[in-house]
Amino acid sequence: MRPITSVIEGIQTSDGAGVKLKRIIGSPDLGILDPFLLLDEFKNDDPEGYIGGFPSHPHRGFETVTYMLHGKFRHKDSAGNEGFLTDGSVQWMTAGRGVIHSEMPEQTEGLVWGFQLWVNLPKKLKMAEPAYQDIPSYAIPEIVQDGTTVKVIAGKFGEQEGPAQTKIGTLYLDIYLQGESDFVAPIPEGWNGFLYIYEGSVESGDGTTVGTGHLAVLGTEGEVRLTGGSDGTRTLLVAGEPINEPIARGGPFVMNTRGEVLQAFEDYQNGVFDKAVS
Ligand code: CO
Repeated sequence: MRPITSVIEGIQTSDGAGVKLKRIIGSPDLGILDPFLLLDEFKNDDPEGYIGGFPSHPHRGFETVTYMLHGKFRHKDSAGNEGFLTDGSVQWMTAGRGVIHSEMPEQTEGLVWGFQLWVNLPKKLKMAEPAYQDIPSYAIPEIVQDGTTVKVIAGKFGEQEGPAQTKIGTLYLDIYLQGESDFVAPIPEGWNGFLYIYEGSVESGDGTTVGTGHLAVLGTEGEVRLTGGSDGTRTLLVAGEPINEPIARGGPFVMNTRGEVLQAFEDYQNGVFDKAVS
């Protein structure tokens, strides 16, 4: 059984043009959980807290994964690519050598609620060609059994495989547990992983109870065993193969060395950032 090794809460902050969000990974509580560099939850029913969105900004060296529970997300990049995420859909973006884009949230019935996860790339893929996978909600398989509903976004759960093509081994599940139902998921040995409870609470097989808005870091061996709270529970279960390489982080650039980060700033300033590199 995979134990919970720590429980953290993250911090309230804002990013982009005043988007209020909760930063959970990438916060003072948990800087990184290799290969995950950042996890933000944005949940807002007041337009003041999201309407500014995330205007034009760059990324290099990793992937961003946006999952909208509620509301929409309009995406545009400087190469002319455009995407529109609707309720329940996912965008898995490989920034690779460079993307300059804007991300603008839009409400559904007054609410914007979603997550952005940053997945690191190993040295050999950091300068890969940028790529997008826009995954509509209907393309995400849902497994319903014994009081649980599991949406498989990436990786394998039982016989079901998620639609996202990942560069490194990654499992991304969205789990709903009806009152007090049990859930078991195997995770490959050695992978790092976490639960993020976004509704209700959960009890882990090791007796740890984790409440709404908390992230539980999992041990690296054994299977995950959970029991939902009496009012029902919703949680993300995300795990990935650690990259185990040095990390140099400079704002929106995540490389292996300080020199590569400085090069990213220079390429961005010189306007050659997202152009083809020969
Ligand atoms: Co971005």
